Amino acid sequence: MSVRRRAVVTGAASGIGAATMLELAVRGYDVVAVDIDLAGAEATVRRASAIGGRHLAVQADVAEESALVAAFAAAHAFLGGLDALATCAGIAESTPFMDVAVNTFRRVYDVNVIGTFLAMREAARFMQPGSRICTVASVAGLRGGGLMGTAAYASSKGAVLALTKNAARSLADQGISVNAVAPGATLTPMIAEAWKNEAIRSLVESLSAQHRTAAPEEIARTIAFLLSPDASIMTGATLVADGGMLMY
Ligand SMILES: NC(=O)c1ccc[n+]([C@@H]2O[C@H](COP(=O)([O-])OP(=O)(O)OC[C@H]3O[C@@H](n4cnc5c(N)ncnc54)[C@H](O)[C@@H]3O)[C@@H](O)[C@H]2O)c1
Repeated sequence: MSVRRRAVVTGAASGIGAATMLELAVRGYDVVAVDIDLAGAEATVRRASAIGGRHLAVQADVAEESALVAAFAAAHAFLGGLDALATCAGIAESTPFMDVAVNTFRRVYDVNVIGTFLAMREAARFMQPGSRICTVASVAGLRGGGLMGTAAYASSKGAVLALTKNAARSLADQGISVNAVAPGATLTPMIAEAWKNEAIRSLVESLSAQHRTAAPEEIARTIAFLLSPDASIMTGATLVADGGMLMY
């Protein structure tokens, strides 16, 4: 009997996180979904369970330290260990530069940056050598926004990239590898409303070589690769998954 791997996916109620949980279930992982949206996380758990394996939904705001500490303790108790973490929980923000309120800016940082940090810190407590982490940044963090995400969002994703490299350095002695995926536009609830405007959609799509929007499953497969032993030489790297927008 093959040994099942064990993962936590934050933001698994929707979009890229949900697709990642399902992809990991296909690849033989047991997964704990951590999300502020419990009903959504439970729905993803039901879909993952139909694929196979044992899965659990845990409600937590990734920006709330005590809630996230408790969520990882519950995940560890359920899984009996932890081999992989994908930090997909995040929020978008598109207020124009001159109008963005400090409280809005802080909430974006709390969720996207502090939430990513807390998830990595708590996961690392339970990880053995050979474990792997994948964070979710954005092309906005590499190009300074300019599409949907503006000041708060773009700078939060730049912070995720630096945080990923710092975690890769800090956790290397524990044998934990940490990489980031930087998606371009991906058709999830995060951008679905904006994508109803054909002018916005075609403008963004025209900036990429493939002239299209990614499906969340395509980003999920990139994350699953970074969490797999196939990516064993990679740590501190950013894998740009954007249909050829940046060409880094
Ligand atoms: N969709 C895109 O075009 C795109 C592009 C680049 C990067 N990203 C990034 O991918 C990640 C996933 O986004 P998505 O497109 O799947 O969006 P989504 O809105 O479909 O999913 C985000 C998930 O995160 C959860 N979440 C939000 N705040 C939370 C919190 N405080 N605590 C716990 N869970 C919380 C939501 O409930 C939701 O389930 C985000 O970090 C986003 O910035 C998305």
